Amino acid sequence: MNGFGYGDRKVVAAIKKQAETLIHASNLYHNEPASALAERLVRLAFPSKVFFTNSGTEAWEGAMKFARRIGKEQGRIEYVAFEHSFHGRSMGALSTTWTAKYREPFEPLVPGVRFVPGNDLAAAAAAVNEKTAAVMIEPVQGEGGIRPATPELLRGLQALCRERGALLVFDEIQCGLGRTGRMFAFQHSGVVPDILTLAKPLAGGLPMGAILLREDLAGALKVGDHGTTFGGNPVCAAAALAVLDHLEEPGFLDDIAARGFYLTRGLKKLARKHKGLVAEIRGLGLMIGVEFHGEAAPVVKGLKEKGILAVKAGDKVLRLLPPLVVKRAEIRQLLAALDEVLASQGVGS
Ligand SMILES: Cc1ncc(COP(=O)(O)O)c(C=O)c1O
Repeated sequence: MNGFGYGDRKVVAAIKKQAETLIHASNLYHNEPASALAERLVRLAFPSKVFFTNSGTEAWEGAMKFARRIGKEQGRIEYVAFEHSFHGRSMGALSTTWTAKYREPFEPLVPGVRFVPGNDLAAAAAAVNEKTAAVMIEPVQGEGGIRPATPELLRGLQALCRERGALLVFDEIQCGLGRTGRMFAFQHSGVVPDILTLAKPLAGGLPMGAILLREDLAGALKVGDHGTTFGGNPVCAAAALAVLDHLEEPGFLDDIAARGFYLTRGLKKLARKHKGLVAEIRGLGLMIGVEFHGEAAPVVKGLKEKGILAVKAGDKVLRLLPPLVVKRAEIRQLLAALDEVLASQGVGS
């Protein structure tokens, strides 16, 4: 999740410089790095007001609150979310998280959440009604198995939300900020959400998230509706500005897409070689899932023994999210290791 790996010199320098200037300021005041970061995100994303948080979960929780606050007077207090979604582990975020094992031990959660199957616009249309505050979706699901929403679904959801008066909220905490080869995953479909959440790679490893709320909706929120002590911390914001500098280097995003393509091509070759093992390879940019017919755990274990850290997404999917600076030689190293691991599963060629 640390987009630029460890010890990135520009990020470290920005943190040091800011730490020597101002580490923290009361949220009664603006601070320069946070203001500059908000302006930068707005320029990159869409006309909006930005609220900074300390994590992805808090960004999502805030987005849920904002959507309710905006729709409350019309009785819009419910949410539509998607099967296989993951949005965090606080009580609100859990309510919109699909996986039962995360949710059920903590019920009752926030009521009024309907889950609909992924990429099923008709199901979403049947779920959105006059009580819906927001339709909430990851443009590419991460934890749930690297499942991209189709552009058709996202376009359809936007039209549906406009027609029925609900807000469209995108969780780009995992898939945003360069991960898919575009600055934001929504740029693949051209569908601009009403609310966007960001986090993970934002501050180069320091804790920070952000909620972008469409500018013309922001007036519905009053001072005191939401707040945080550390959100917008100047050191985190300075690190985030350095991260954005990297992401905006000419050609960098295109190169993420190109290296993602290179990795996917290599994975497809392995899938052909180790017939019967791989069910599907899917993803965007450097966010790639390899779904096996069997469990992914032995593959994760095998890779770890070869010095490569990867994780599962669900039981059957190997989740590959290399640092955005991964080199082609390192991709080849991963592919060679995976080749050996798959061969040792006994199903290889
Ligand atoms: C899509 C998505 N939303 C929300 C979260 C929660 O973010 P955090 O762990 O920063 O609270 C995650 C974390 O994995 C995520 O992948």
